[in-house]
Amino acid sequence: MASTSETITEQPTTEVVRPKKQVRTRIEYRRFNVFHRWMHFLVFCSFTVLVFTGMPLKYKDTAWAQWFMDLFGGVTAAGVYHRIAAIVTVFYWTAEMLVMVIMVLKARGKLKSRIPLFFNGKDLQDVIGMFAWFFGRGPKPQFDRYTYWEKFDYLSLVAGTVIIGMTGFMMWFPLEFTKVLPGYWLNVALVIHSNEALLAMGVIFIFVHFFSAHLKPESFPLDKVIFTGSLPVDHYKAERPLEYARRVREGTLDEVLIERRITWKTYAADVVWWTITLIAGVSALMMTAFIIWSVFD
Ligand code: HEM
Repeated sequence: MASTSETITEQPTTEVVRPKKQVRTRIEYRRFNVFHRWMHFLVFCSFTVLVFTGMPLKYKDTAWAQWFMDLFGGVTAAGVYHRIAAIVTVFYWTAEMLVMVIMVLKARGKLKSRIPLFFNGKDLQDVIGMFAWFFGRGPKPQFDRYTYWEKFDYLSLVAGTVIIGMTGFMMWFPLEFTKVLPGYWLNVALVIHSNEALLAMGVIFIFVHFFSAHLKPESFPLDKVIFTGSLPVDHYKAERPLEYARRVREGTLDEVLIERRITWKTYAADVVWWTITLIAGVSALMMTAFIIWSVFD
């Protein structure tokens, strides 16, 4: 009688058992969750549309403005895109504020320690420390979850959206607003909207956001963490040593460590993030150059 093992080997085999392919993985630090990433995506898309459909109106006498308007299909079509992007803006702003209210309620009075986006005394020390470091007068300050420029970036967007949104809606619904306000308020609204738009564009494209996200030495030429949500632990530890040390101290590091599979999709996604950032950067530079040219022409 054949043994059990012989019986098995004698059976015809149709299934080929291949050795399991080794999947490369990397432990990463999760900085942004899905909500953060989607919010950023909405801000990114709507802000770009608002700038590119609004600025040609502000500089309507220039050749480049005419070119943009033709590209969008005329002033009326550009106005429609501007309004659609404005609705997206209202949506993300409201969602963000709802989350903020929930966080404030959960913080139970301990806002500064529990809500990392709020300014605190250390931010002022960091501003002074950074200037000292720029001039070789001290070490580079160590940062926690959010730096002072990231807090400024966030809070200026939150506050700026209120101003630009209110004035935008006044121009969008002039009849309704002039039932309660004198007509000259529409002119005031236009001046505020138009100049706040220029300021916001400057903050995002030139002075703060693009510069601090992509051009600082640690991230140059591209910081893709807002797309991927996570980054290599060593990189994060070097960038935000205080947050890392706090998590180690409190025993909460495991909550933010993830095992990321590195496959061809990772590299394909990288190409997409590079392309998006490159297009955004070039477009931002182009719009800035057009505006500077118009102002000094
Ligand atoms: C809730 C947000 C917003 C609303 C409701 C809104 C609405 C409007 C409306 C109704 C106009 C008048 C032009 C037209 O009829 O098409 C306008 C003009 C304009 N918007 Fe907005 N907008 C918003 C946000 C923004 C943002 C974020 C920017 C840029 C950062 C922007 C840039 C401009 C510019 C530059 C103009 C032209 C102003 C001028 O002629 O000097 N808008 N907007």
